Amino acid sequence: MENQVIIIFGGSGDLTGRKLMPALFNLYKSDGLSLDSVIIGVGRTPYTKEKYREYLLSKGDYELTDDKLKSFVEKIDYFQMDLSNENDYKQLKKKLLATGIKNYLFYLATPPSMYGIIPANLKRAELNREEKGESGEVIGSRRVIVEKPFGYDLESAVEMNRAIGEVFPEKQIFRIDHYLGKETVQNILALRFANTIFEPIWNRHYIERVEITAVENMGIESRGGFYDGIGALRDMVQNHLIQLLALIAMEPPIYFGEQEFRDEVVKVYKSLNQIPKENIPSQVVRGQYISGEKRGIVAAAYREERGVNPDSSTETFLAMKVNIANWRWEGVPFYIRTGKQMPTKVTEIVIHFRQTPHRLFSCREECPEQNQLIIRIQPDEGMVLKYDMKIPGSGFNVTQVPMDFTYSKLGAVNADDAYSRLIEEALSGDNTLFTRSDAVEASWRYFAPILECFGNGTSIPLYGYPAGSWGPLESETIIENGHKWTNPCKNLTNTNLYCEL
Ligand code: BG6
Repeated sequence: MENQVIIIFGGSGDLTGRKLMPALFNLYKSDGLSLDSVIIGVGRTPYTKEKYREYLLSKGDYELTDDKLKSFVEKIDYFQMDLSNENDYKQLKKKLLATGIKNYLFYLATPPSMYGIIPANLKRAELNREEKGESGEVIGSRRVIVEKPFGYDLESAVEMNRAIGEVFPEKQIFRIDHYLGKETVQNILALRFANTIFEPIWNRHYIERVEITAVENMGIESRGGFYDGIGALRDMVQNHLIQLLALIAMEPPIYFGEQEFRDEVVKVYKSLNQIPKENIPSQVVRGQYISGEKRGIVAAAYREERGVNPDSSTETFLAMKVNIANWRWEGVPFYIRTGKQMPTKVTEIVIHFRQTPHRLFSCREECPEQNQLIIRIQPDEGMVLKYDMKIPGSGFNVTQVPMDFTYSKLGAVNADDAYSRLIEEALSGDNTLFTRSDAVEASWRYFAPILECFGNGTSIPLYGYPAGSWGPLESETIIENGHKWTNPCKNLTNTNLYCEL
């Protein structure tokens, strides 16, 4: 790969310290970053280069004895500037030219309010235009990675797309959703499209319902000020969960290329069955954690967290039923839920297959459930297929047994590598695993009426749930036919993939 300058706006922010720099270090260690590349953190704080490096080392989780760390840190520089000041970009440009490197990757890791201002200033300083060689080939690339949240609602997302789109062509824009960088998320594509056995049954005739759960056992930690203006729908559902849903529901792309793959994702978003206003309260359940005991420790209520309005009506839990109006999925409910301060941290997809048309055999105690395929995104990445077998001995009783695969059998899985993987893709100019402008807008369009109901404060109730619980009991009411949510682990101290079996 050619040398690059990676310019991180928001260089002194939390995300840069905790996620981006460690990800760049991983990339460097795996030779994903060419040797003479340079990283420049940009921010308002008056750091010297040395102080900035020290700050970064204190924020990330580094093995200080790692012999590559020293040479990595030497690549890091700092540039203090006011992001709203046009003139400061001229100075930044001088600094970039002085590196002698032609390729620039700008990373917008700032609050979204800056997403219009930074690109406009880059354009004024002519930092957006790619350099071309004599025969028109790109010899100096200009790419921009944009962090989530991409928009606050449909209107702001459209405006952001317009503002960034005026400066960079879509091909040079990389809207990041770190879920798409996760190995096991990408593996959904391999499971579905590299095997013949699943595709014939991957439809409404064989699948009865799908559950997608992404819950966390932490609260909002130090992000109260940010989170309180956002809530679970904007933070997790509109991007990560709907992306997972798209991978489960999409049609096979004709080819794994950026246009073909992303076209299929957009088709799913466009087929989401808009929930009529009057049905929103029966399909969407919101919750907010109240104080509760988690493994003997009392956790504070959301409203008591730092940075949170004591009367806040922001949801920290959301469960909803999504229907897809297309040939493959008509009538198959997709249940999605996310929450903070839940009993465990897990992301899991459960595919429930239909019951056999006729039950031939008896069961000794409770009858086993229908077949299930559980895709565990994190932790203990892997899959379990549950199916029925005869219990040995007299009579003809059946019970459910698991066939399992643990992803680590294929090699080390580092769940923290999602950012490294995606930055590497952006450096190479491949935006297949990034969200396209029309996908962002289609997704917001689907959620717009729901958000409107949140806004008026009354039409969707906000239920309290004790920290450490599985959310408000009302979330069970959205599941049809007497089914219940599949809670990933019965024994919560056991985060093993098989704990439920
Ligand atoms: C982020 C959200 O996008 O994803 C956080 O802003 C959330 O609130 C995080 O904690 C979850 O990511 P992961 O990879 O830990 O599942």
